[in-house]
Amino acid sequence: MANSQHIYPEFKRMLPRDAREGHLRQRGHVFWFYGLSGSGKSTLAIALEQKLFEQGRFCQLLDGDNIRSGLNKDLGFTDADRLENIRRIAEVAKLFANAGVLTLTAFICPKEELRQMAREIIGPEDFTEVYVKASYETCQARDPKGLYQKVNAGKVKYFTGKDSGFEEPASPDVLIDTETLSLEASLEQLLPLALEKTAL
Ligand code: ADX
Repeated sequence: MANSQHIYPEFKRMLPRDAREGHLRQRGHVFWFYGLSGSGKSTLAIALEQKLFEQGRFCQLLDGDNIRSGLNKDLGFTDADRLENIRRIAEVAKLFANAGVLTLTAFICPKEELRQMAREIIGPEDFTEVYVKASYETCQARDPKGLYQKVNAGKVKYFTGKDSGFEEPASPDVLIDTETLSLEASLEQLLPLALEKTAL
């Protein structure tokens, strides 16, 4: 059981968010990319980060495999572990957004309940949900990490889309279908939105 007794958060005396944002000349915001493994989340987020950086925006990317090899290396892929994974990431993304940083996250985040939790932790005004859509068959054919091959050989437990579910979102803020939209066309859709959301 978590111990939240005798804890005294200190917010009032800390440097306010708008002072930090003024310093960086931008607003903090979180772009929450999610979708199946191999759908193109990281590719899209990395390319968008590069474009935003060129436009003078201060960004931070949080990516599934990176976070799982550090902060969340104690977590696996059961429903409970995925929930804890997303909860911690949302808390970290919130800290970045409050520091004025344009934060991009790329996680499978397979359930509506998880996306809702992330939105609540971060705050709806700071949160844009980007569903990166590609079918299981397409992701399997792409297999950028050779992971689907391992899944088909029975070597991966609780794999998303196979023996662990992925819920299609009802109404994502943005939907990027990577089966039909090129990387360039996807960036043309995302870049103006990211610039607008983070303009002071
Ligand atoms: S999430 O479901 O908790 O949001 P997250 O995005 O952090 O997942 O991690 C997914 C990455 O972990 C995948 O891109 C893949 O490389 C790796 N992975 C290892 N095992 C699994 C698994 N059983 N299901 C899904 N992804 C897995």
